[in-house]
Amino acid sequence: MPSLKFTVLAGDYIGPEVMAEALRVLGHVAARENLRLDYTEADVGGAAIDRHGTALPEATLRACAAGDAILFGSVGGPKWEKLPPKEQPERAALLPLRKHFTLFANIRPGLLYPELSDASPLKSERIPQGIDIVCIRELTGGIYFGQPKTTTTLPDGDVQALDTMVYRKSEIERITAAAVTAARGRKKKLCSVDKANVLETSLLWRKTVADYVAQHAPDIALSHMYVDNAAMQLARDPNQFDVFVTENMFGDILSDEMAVICGSLGMLASASLGAQQNSRGLPFGLYEPAGGTAPDIAGKGIANPCAQILSAALMLRYSFGLDAVAARIEAAVKKAVTAGTRTGDIAFGRPAVGTRAMADAIIAAL
Ligand code: IPM
Ligand code: MN
Repeated sequence: MPSLKFTVLAGDYIGPEVMAEALRVLGHVAARENLRLDYTEADVGGAAIDRHGTALPEATLRACAAGDAILFGSVGGPKWEKLPPKEQPERAALLPLRKHFTLFANIRPGLLYPELSDASPLKSERIPQGIDIVCIRELTGGIYFGQPKTTTTLPDGDVQALDTMVYRKSEIERITAAAVTAARGRKKKLCSVDKANVLETSLLWRKTVADYVAQHAPDIALSHMYVDNAAMQLARDPNQFDVFVTENMFGDILSDEMAVICGSLGMLASASLGAQQNSRGLPFGLYEPAGGTAPDIAGKGIANPCAQILSAALMLRYSFGLDAVAARIEAAVKKAVTAGTRTGDIAFGRPAVGTRAMADAIIAAL
């Protein structure tokens, strides 16, 4: 029986609540497909700070390295907000985890079922077919990681902070390759987003993307857009994009905009794929929902588990090569939600169900 070896990092607040449901759905799927779930749970984020004094313990990194993928919940929240910024769960766990495993390609599908178009702040007539686009965000370079990164007091007594935005051609080429793969699986349309009218890194970005596509992917229709315009176009007509690719910080901002126009953070999954292959010769990856820890609703059993379940589906697709099984989970989520089983964030006047009942409906749809 083929076994799926991965590491579960549930994290904080609603993290463990939605993770429990994703694991239940995976358990159900595994039983039906004759797969064995072989996962290890490890501490991360605030939970790890409380137990081990650090957000990303060595033991957690070792556990992750031993598996073929990481299924991640979410980290951070008010409990740890008083810590120095560098020790807080987001910066001390998530960013080093991405860097440690070189998870440079962040794939964020922006999907809104037509039946849920009420959930979007966009007028329904602008998105009669719902929304179906993909953001490919570079995740291990740019201003997030560039050195120097300092705060200093100047001789005149003023204080100066410095971040460095830096990209190598090779980093841009590998994320372009990932974006081309995504575009080839869809409409073969790719928009590269930059700020080439101002930034050196964006000039290199634009030239590198254009050269790469001309040389290796002439079948892809490539366009370029400045990031300010892209922010506007996303709000005006999101479906013009299909797949867009951009650097780390622009992708952070645009993917949140994409998330809100798609109606609920509780529905959006993501995959962060690495340069390394796992023991199956597929990309090692980290799979996480977009929604964060939602401290305000934690412990109430009402969080939407769909994004975590859809993230688990992405894990099956990319790190385990189980595309058909992943598609079955995605279809079951869609079926359950469009048939009317909805958590509070997507209920809109309908009676809302809790986390567990939402997962039950998905399992029933499977
Ligand atoms: C995200 C988050 C992180 C990021 C934070 C928590 C460091 O906003 O995954 O988009 O900025 O990358
Ligand atoms: Mn973000």
